[in-house]
Amino acid sequence: MPSKPWSGRFQEPTHQLVEAFTASLAFDCRLAPYDLRGSIAHARMLAKQRVLTRKEAAKIVKGLEGITREIARGKFPFSAADEDIHMAIERRLLKKIGPVAGKLHTGRSRNDQVALDLRLYVREVLDGLQERIRRLQRVLLDQAEGHAETILPGYTHMQRAQPIVLAHHLLAYVEMLERDRERLADARARLNVCPLGAGALAGTTFPLDRAYVAQILGFDGVSQNSLDAVADRDFLVEFLADVALLMTHLSRLGEELVLWSTFEFGFVEFPDAFATGSSMMPQKKNPDVAELVRGKTGRVFGHLLSLLTILKGLPLSYNRDLQEDKEPLFDAVETVEQCLEVLTALVPRLAFKPKRMRRAAEWGYLAATDLADYLASKGLPFREAHAIVGRIVAYCLKAGKELTALSLAELKTFSPRFGPDALQALTLEASVARRNLVGGTAPAQVRRQIRAWAKRLKA
Ligand code: ARG
Repeated sequence: MPSKPWSGRFQEPTHQLVEAFTASLAFDCRLAPYDLRGSIAHARMLAKQRVLTRKEAAKIVKGLEGITREIARGKFPFSAADEDIHMAIERRLLKKIGPVAGKLHTGRSRNDQVALDLRLYVREVLDGLQERIRRLQRVLLDQAEGHAETILPGYTHMQRAQPIVLAHHLLAYVEMLERDRERLADARARLNVCPLGAGALAGTTFPLDRAYVAQILGFDGVSQNSLDAVADRDFLVEFLADVALLMTHLSRLGEELVLWSTFEFGFVEFPDAFATGSSMMPQKKNPDVAELVRGKTGRVFGHLLSLLTILKGLPLSYNRDLQEDKEPLFDAVETVEQCLEVLTALVPRLAFKPKRMRRAAEWGYLAATDLADYLASKGLPFREAHAIVGRIVAYCLKAGKELTALSLAELKTFSPRFGPDALQALTLEASVARRNLVGGTAPAQVRRQIRAWAKRLKA
């Protein structure tokens, strides 16, 4: 058995440093199931086109099916001598069925083969991720269902701004995740094209039925340019970009959980099973899970940048640089899957603190906009109303009291338009309830959103 399938024109064996330097088996072994599916489809097509006899193809397919079982059971004998997963499988096939194994590679190159494997792999990952996103959306929705009336301060610039309800805040993440899911679905549609038949770069002399292979493997079509087919990794860039944005959203959620769990905020408490302690400070309970979600986002950004950098300036068509696409991809997949999974387990167990939230919403003049809106609704131009309420806030700051502590007589010294109903406008309940338009934080609107999401997510 020759040590390398390409060793024919070589006069000396590969240097051991080069073996190690060029090998990808340690990580592309993950592609084995996809490589096998691709090879089985290729062999069946070769038989259909009479490039192989029925008997030859049957032998090859049977051998590949045996290897598929070995891989699934962890019984595949990996050898460090194999450069990559494609060669490892081919060598194994040779061992199992003899020289007819050598006919499998007819009309195919590792260049179109690896492009195929990656598309099959990412397609499956995309389907799985969409389901994982759905699960996180569902647990966020479950929490939202219990908090349609839980009032907390909404923030801009990290300053208390206007009261909102907690469900509204949680549903903001459900919206982000929905866009993430849609982006993954878009990416899937674009990548679902079969590159097999491109050969090394120029196509092949054999009469392949490309459409037949594509159909067996569930592709929507075949690539139209062989050079592009072996050189293209756009689908990986798209995937990593989509995942980077998804991680951005998870990181923002993580950051809010870190912040909200501080003594200063006290809006949420982590369950003990999802927190960690300090080796020195006995009192500590740290939100490490949320911090790590935030931190791991950095490495996923890095993977996107790695791949863009690998592709930038690469001439057509295949170049070995492309082998460097795999580790960033696999790590990004593992990272985002883990983050989604741990958040999905954590969210249902978060104990939000409605009393603390409410107390926070009572301080900081959160009803100032409501008071200005009140004057504007009595006919005053909003800009003038804004100025008047600004003076009222300044007065309150000086007097050391909240807007809600003002009497009607005090209000009237700032504007004659204030009537008895002005005080009513200042309550937290009135404030949220009045934002009763599509997308607003009024509990009535938020409950509508909850119903709509329940319908969508249960389907
Ligand atoms: N391990 C290679 C990769 O991941 C497979 C293709 C190798 N092709 C080649 N001509 N050396 O890109």
